Amino acid sequence: MDVQRGQWSSRMGFIFAAAGSAVGLGNIWKFPYITGENGGGVFVLIYLVCIIAVGIPIMVAELLLGQGSKQSPVGAFEHFHKKGSSWGLVGWLGVASGFVILSYYSVVAGWAMHYVKLSLQGFTNLDTETIGNTFSGLYGSATQNMFWHTVFMSVTIMVVIGGVKKGIEKTCNILMPLLFLLLLFLVGRAVFLPNDGFMKAVDFIFMPHFEKLTPHGILEALGHAFFTLSLGMGAMLTYGSYLKSRKEVLKSSIAVSLLDTVIALLACLMIFPVIFAFGYEAEAGPGLVFKTIPIVFSQIAGGQILSVFFFLLLTFAALSSAISLLEVVTATFIDKLDWRRNKAALISGIVIFVFGIPSALSGSGKIFGAWADIFGKNFFDSMDYLASNWMLPIGGLLTAIYVGWVMPKEKLEYFFGAEFYPAWIFKVFYLLIRFFSPVLVLIVLLYKIDFI
Ligand code: PFF
Repeated sequence: MDVQRGQWSSRMGFIFAAAGSAVGLGNIWKFPYITGENGGGVFVLIYLVCIIAVGIPIMVAELLLGQGSKQSPVGAFEHFHKKGSSWGLVGWLGVASGFVILSYYSVVAGWAMHYVKLSLQGFTNLDTETIGNTFSGLYGSATQNMFWHTVFMSVTIMVVIGGVKKGIEKTCNILMPLLFLLLLFLVGRAVFLPNDGFMKAVDFIFMPHFEKLTPHGILEALGHAFFTLSLGMGAMLTYGSYLKSRKEVLKSSIAVSLLDTVIALLACLMIFPVIFAFGYEAEAGPGLVFKTIPIVFSQIAGGQILSVFFFLLLTFAALSSAISLLEVVTATFIDKLDWRRNKAALISGIVIFVFGIPSALSGSGKIFGAWADIFGKNFFDSMDYLASNWMLPIGGLLTAIYVGWVMPKEKLEYFFGAEFYPAWIFKVFYLLIRFFSPVLVLIVLLYKIDFI
């Protein structure tokens, strides 16, 4: 084992870093808009079921694989099974998912950065319609997208070069509490919006209208549970490998999932009131956060500075997630190829950056315009679809099978030691990870390929 391997300095340090990975664009940008597109309450309900029944068990599985093996994904999957077995491939699938996700994630993070700049320039003082239309201008601009994609990837690479304690942990320890406070403040502000916006939003988010339930919504909820908790690609596994004590595995999984869910719901409570108060469409799609939030700010005294803060924090939430994506790839190259951290982070970061260029150009239709004609979705949307709907669920399914069926049971029990947990907890986990989680994911995948 590598004696130089990084380690978190405290339990809280780990929780913030893992929550930093989980809480990101998925919570503040994506969750609200897919909730909007899938009819609100009923989607939220299905999503919560997915978090509890599939998300938490798989997060426990990933953390224990990492903590127990002290390896990045490829090594971890080989650790509890004989060397040279093909289980290492699951780790490589995770590395590939990291590549794909970070490549387009960085583009969205770039939008957030661009909005910091716009806010500083006072664009929230413009009229509502102009603010709402700003996003289409940005989305269609190849230069802007390329510029911010470059800036964001550079910062991400720098943090990862900083290492586990000094780069990742330190960054997340500052960003996460700030993010939470700001969200609470903005939700508080949303309560007082006109036209009963807040109550309409509460109704939309929490009242399940079952007639709005679609098979597509169920698939999307499961895919998003993986995405939002950073599961199915070894990010949590890699962070778990820097964890000192096996006792933390279960507790931290629950804490991180809870934090992530609360923040996603708060994000909805911040965004939907605006939509209902000002008559926007809940189904606005990926531009939702970028169109509606600046409008609230334009209505509030001191809105300009709040807008700067909001987009700064959205950028930070994206950054703390992006570093975990790059860390998976970096740690794998360090562990498997014996590369130094600087080299591993820099090379993988640059390759991911290049792979992200078609996503950065998707909105402008330049160069990759034909992609959409062939695949029905532009490059950016295709990557998001591929990763959240296929790569992460498949990675998660294989993780559940490995931990539930391949790993020896006593090795698993070790993480639920009788010294810290009552025996029934392990029984419930074992049932979920062996049967419930994999079967649910499998059904969803089979459904997707029209098999059932
Ligand atoms: N969980 C992040 C979000 O919700 O934005 C995205 C993500 C980060 C997915 C890291 C996967 C991952 F490994």
